[in-house]
Amino acid sequence: MNGNMLDNERVYQVCHLNELVSGIGRCFRIGKIKIALFKTRSGKIWAVEGKCPHQGGPIAEALYDEKTFICPLHAYPFSFETGNCTISEKFRIKVYPAFVKNQQIFIKIPMASNNDSLT
Ligand code: FES
Repeated sequence: MNGNMLDNERVYQVCHLNELVSGIGRCFRIGKIKIALFKTRSGKIWAVEGKCPHQGGPIAEALYDEKTFICPLHAYPFSFETGNCTISEKFRIKVYPAFVKNQQIFIKIPMASNNDSLT
Protein backbone atom coordinates (compact mmCIF):
# COMPACT_ATOMS: atom_id res chain seq x y z
CA MET A 1 0.00 0.00 0.00
CA ASN A 2 1.44 3.33 -1.06
CA GLY A 3 0.87 6.56 0.84
CA ASN A 4 0.97 10.06 -0.61
CA MET A 5 0.44 13.16 1.49
CA LEU A 6 -2.17 15.76 0.57
CA ASP A 7 -2.43 18.69 3.02
CA ASN A 8 -3.69 17.21 6.28
CA GLU A 9 -4.47 13.74 5.00
CA ARG A 10 -2.68 10.88 3.39
CA VAL A 11 -3.95 8.90 0.40
CA TYR A 12 -3.36 5.15 0.34
CA GLN A 13 -3.74 2.73 -2.51
CA VAL A 14 -5.47 -0.27 -0.92
CA CYS A 15 -6.22 -2.82 -3.65
CA HIS A 16 -7.45 -3.43 -7.19
CA LEU A 17 -11.19 -3.02 -7.73
CA ASN A 18 -11.44 -6.70 -8.75
CA GLU A 19 -10.20 -7.77 -5.31
CA LEU A 20 -13.52 -6.68 -3.82
CA VAL A 21 -16.67 -8.71 -4.40
CA SER A 22 -20.04 -7.04 -4.08
CA GLY A 23 -21.73 -8.20 -0.86
CA ILE A 24 -18.56 -9.39 0.90
CA GLY A 25 -16.41 -7.04 2.98
CA ARG A 26 -12.64 -7.30 3.26
CA CYS A 27 -10.26 -6.22 5.96
CA PHE A 28 -7.00 -4.44 5.17
CA ARG A 29 -4.29 -3.02 7.39
CA ILE A 30 -2.68 0.32 6.77
CA GLY A 31 0.03 0.61 9.37
CA LYS A 32 -1.76 -0.12 12.63
CA ILE A 33 -5.17 0.91 11.30
CA LYS A 34 -7.64 -1.83 10.36
CA ILE A 35 -9.88 -0.84 7.47
CA ALA A 36 -13.03 -2.64 6.38
CA LEU A 37 -13.70 -2.16 2.68
CA PHE A 38 -17.04 -2.84 0.98
CA LYS A 39 -18.39 -2.74 -2.56
CA THR A 40 -22.16 -2.39 -2.84
CA ARG A 41 -24.33 -3.87 -5.58
CA SER A 42 -24.37 -0.50 -7.33
CA GLY A 43 -20.55 -0.39 -7.25
CA LYS A 44 -20.15 2.20 -4.49
CA ILE A 45 -17.01 1.70 -2.37
CA TRP A 46 -17.12 2.35 1.38
CA ALA A 47 -14.20 2.30 3.80
CA VAL A 48 -14.72 2.30 7.57
CA GLU A 49 -12.75 1.42 10.66
CA GLY A 50 -12.37 -2.36 10.85
CA LYS A 51 -13.20 -2.68 14.55
CA CYS A 52 -16.63 -1.99 16.01
CA PRO A 53 -16.70 0.83 18.60
CA HIS A 54 -19.11 -1.22 20.74
CA GLN A 55 -17.03 -4.28 21.63
CA GLY A 56 -14.55 -4.65 18.79
CA GLY A 57 -16.58 -6.76 16.37
CA PRO A 58 -14.97 -7.54 12.98
CA ILE A 59 -16.70 -5.02 10.73
CA ALA A 60 -15.43 -6.55 7.48
CA GLU A 61 -17.77 -9.48 8.21
CA ALA A 62 -20.81 -7.18 8.40
CA LEU A 63 -23.95 -7.62 6.36
CA TYR A 64 -24.58 -4.46 4.38
CA ASP A 65 -26.61 -2.70 1.76
CA GLU A 66 -26.04 0.56 -0.10
CA LYS A 67 -26.00 2.81 2.96
CA THR A 68 -25.91 0.73 6.14
CA PHE A 69 -23.94 -2.13 7.64
CA ILE A 70 -24.70 -4.34 10.62
CA CYS A 71 -21.98 -5.41 13.04
CA PRO A 72 -21.75 -9.23 13.08
CA LEU A 73 -21.36 -9.45 16.87
CA HIS A 74 -24.44 -7.70 18.31
CA ALA A 75 -26.17 -6.44 15.17
CA TYR A 76 -25.81 -2.72 15.82
CA PRO A 77 -26.49 -0.92 12.54
CA PHE A 78 -24.21 1.91 11.34
CA SER A 79 -24.44 4.43 8.53
CA PHE A 80 -21.69 4.26 5.90
CA GLU A 81 -22.10 7.98 5.26
CA THR A 82 -21.86 9.31 8.81
CA GLY A 83 -20.45 6.40 10.81
CA ASN A 84 -23.24 6.89 13.32
CA CYS A 85 -24.87 3.90 14.97
CA THR A 86 -28.52 4.25 14.02
CA ILE A 87 -29.88 2.84 17.30
CA SER A 88 -27.45 4.30 19.85
CA GLU A 89 -25.86 7.75 19.91
CA LYS A 90 -23.06 6.35 22.07
CA PHE A 91 -21.34 4.62 19.16
CA ARG A 92 -19.79 6.06 16.04
CA ILE A 93 -17.32 4.43 13.70
CA LYS A 94 -14.64 6.19 11.63
CA VAL A 95 -15.45 6.53 7.96
CA TYR A 96 -12.65 7.08 5.44
CA PRO A 97 -13.27 8.70 2.05
CA ALA A 98 -12.67 6.17 -0.71
CA PHE A 99 -12.34 6.58 -4.46
CA VAL A 100 -11.41 4.55 -7.52
CA LYS A 101 -8.78 5.62 -10.04
CA ASN A 102 -7.39 3.40 -12.82
CA GLN A 103 -9.21 0.41 -11.30
CA GLN A 104 -7.38 0.90 -7.99
CA ILE A 105 -9.15 1.70 -4.71
CA PHE A 106 -7.71 4.55 -2.66
CA ILE A 107 -8.67 5.84 0.77
CA LYS A 108 -7.85 9.05 2.59
CA ILE A 109 -6.74 8.94 6.20
CA PRO A 110 -6.45 12.14 8.28
CA MET A 111 -2.95 12.95 9.50
CA ALA A 112 -4.09 12.86 13.15
CA SER A 113 -4.83 9.16 12.69
CA ASN A 114 -1.46 8.67 10.99
CA ASN A 115 0.50 10.22 13.83
CA ASP A 116 -1.00 7.88 16.39
CA SER A 117 -1.41 4.70 14.46
CA LEU A 118 0.69 4.40 11.34
CA THR A 119 4.18 4.58 12.74
S1 FES B 1 -19.27 -5.42 18.85
FE1 FES B 1 -20.33 -4.46 17.22
S2 FES B 1 -22.36 -4.29 17.93
FE2 FES B 1 -21.27 -5.17 19.59
